[in-house]
Order: sequence, then C-alpha cells, then structure tokens
Amino acid sequence: MTTFPVINFEKLNGEERKDTMEKIKNACENWGFFELVNHGIPHDLLDTVERLTKEHYRKCMEERFKELIASKGLDAVQSEVKDMDWESTFHLRHLPESNISEVPDLIDEYRKVMKDFALRLEKLAEQLLDLLCENLGLEKGYLKKAFYGSRGPTFGTKIANYPPCPNPALVKGLRPHTDAGGIILLFQDDKVSGLQLLKDDQWVDVPPMRHSIVVNIGDQLEVITNGKYKSVEHRVIAQTDGTRMSIASFYNPGSDAVIYPAPELLEKEAEEKVQLYPKFVFEDYMKLYAELKFQAKEPRFEAFKASNFGPIATA
Ligand code: OGA
Ligand code: NI
Repeated sequence: MTTFPVINFEKLNGEERKDTMEKIKNACENWGFFELVNHGIPHDLLDTVERLTKEHYRKCMEERFKELIASKGLDAVQSEVKDMDWESTFHLRHLPESNISEVPDLIDEYRKVMKDFALRLEKLAEQLLDLLCENLGLEKGYLKKAFYGSRGPTFGTKIANYPPCPNPALVKGLRPHTDAGGIILLFQDDKVSGLQLLKDDQWVDVPPMRHSIVVNIGDQLEVITNGKYKSVEHRVIAQTDGTRMSIASFYNPGSDAVIYPAPELLEKEAEEKVQLYPKFVFEDYMKLYAELKFQAKEPRFEAFKASNFGPIATA
C-alpha cells in the first residue's frame, strides 16, 4: 500500500523538479489530496496563526460550544447523529473583498495575522493551479482564468475546532463530503488527528505534520479537468481527548464564473457522444451544494445536465 503523498515544494526549484511534478500529478490523479512541506509560508507565521486561533477558541468559542451541545443533549446520544457535526467554526472572507474587519470578537493582532496568512495562501493556491495546468497540458493561467468570472476568485477561510467528543462513533466531527469549490489549503493541528479521506473504499488518515499544508481538489476542478482529477470524499473523526484545530482556506471560482470542462481535456472520440460533466454558473452550483453537501456529488453534476447547457443559459 502506498503512503499518503507528501510533496517537498522546495524541490520544484532544483534537479528534482520533474520527479516532484510527477508526484503532484500522481497525487492529483490517485488521491485528490497531498501534503505540502517547505511551501514557503514562514513557520513562525504558522505558529502565530495556531497560537491566536487556539486562544480565540478558548476565550470566545469553547463555552458557547459546550452550551450548544448541552442544549441539544448531544453529549449523551444513544444512536447515530446524522444532522450535526461536532465542530465549532467561524468564517473569514478574503476575496473578492475582505470582511476581516467586521468579524466580531477578534483581537487586532489576530485580524492582522490572518490577513497576512490569507494573502500567502492565495499566492500558494495560484502557484498550485499553474502547476496543475502544467501537469494537465493546459496553458499557464488557464485555471486562474477559468475561476475569474467578472470580479476574480472567491477566497475564504473556515476556522474550525473539533473539541473532545464522548462518542465519536455516533457523532462525526464533520460528516463525509467532497468540497464544492476549486482548490483547498488546510493548516491542521500537528498533534490531534482526525481528518480522513476515502481511498479504494477505505478511510485513510491524513497524518498531522508540523508546519505542513494539506491540499485537496474540489468539485470545480473535477469538472474543469473533465474528471482527470477528482474531488475525494473526506470526513473528520472527533477524538475523545484533545481539541483539533483546522484552518481550511477555499480558493473558489467567482460567483458568476461559468464552469465547464476544458475543451483540451475532452476525450476526442467521446466528445460528441457522452458529456461527462455539465456547464453551469458557480453560484448556482453553490446553491445546490448548500442543500446537498453531505450527499454524493454525482446528482449535483447530473442536475446541471438536464439540458445541454444546464438549467441556466450561459452560452
Ligand atoms: C471542510 C473540511 C476538514 C477539516 O471544512 O470542508 O473538510 O479538517 N474540513 O476541518
Ligand atoms: Ni471538506
């Protein structure tokens, strides 16, 4: 059995570039996930993000979470809970415009550090998209352009903590799903594990690794690559001890971006016969996803195939 792919980003600058590109390609084709080390984001910035996130959780979120759990009786459930996740979250938006100054309860230092962190992740996401273009044989900038719409990409961060859970078998930290968007960059706790992906019908751990960034492919990249890269199902298992921090940043198309398979990636012979993936406006996909997040992705794609060009006129 092969192990979870770890990519040393620094090696893209040297003699091992070709091998490293190949590793990224394999990870995209076979895992939908990989873990990046030496990605260029300063480790002391990551340490500060982690410290401030954990402080913020303890100060502003933890008590609220406990009250919520108690009010729903979730700490003493007897059967599987299918409509809730054992997580405490809040969101920041960076693009098309930042809302960091309006999000309540954050100290100034945290706001400033998250802005810096987001800017670096945005650049890393764009670098990764170009590496994907290279591996796919698409022209440089193709994916960035495909995401652009009229106002540029949407970029946001979900800050999550998964507190200790008395009954992880009955309540998931986060139920299985694929991510709706483009490319996702995750900075996760380096000690408390919990993230798993589905590979060959088995749940495989995404191992905690200090200062690494976990990258995964969302539904939009599956559509644009015509299924060459697939969004992979994942979930979070809460632990009985230890709170797991996870900071997931979603680099997604702009809301009015029109998403469709790259013409260069359509199988020539199948082109006229089968249409694997539809064409749609990203925000319409997100409306559907809001209702169907924890269900299989295929019906979401199918819904937009109702007519040749999906339920909306985009031509
Ligand atoms: C998500 C997600 C994983 C994690 O928010 O979509 O998969 O580890 N998060 O928090
Ligand atoms: Ni996810």
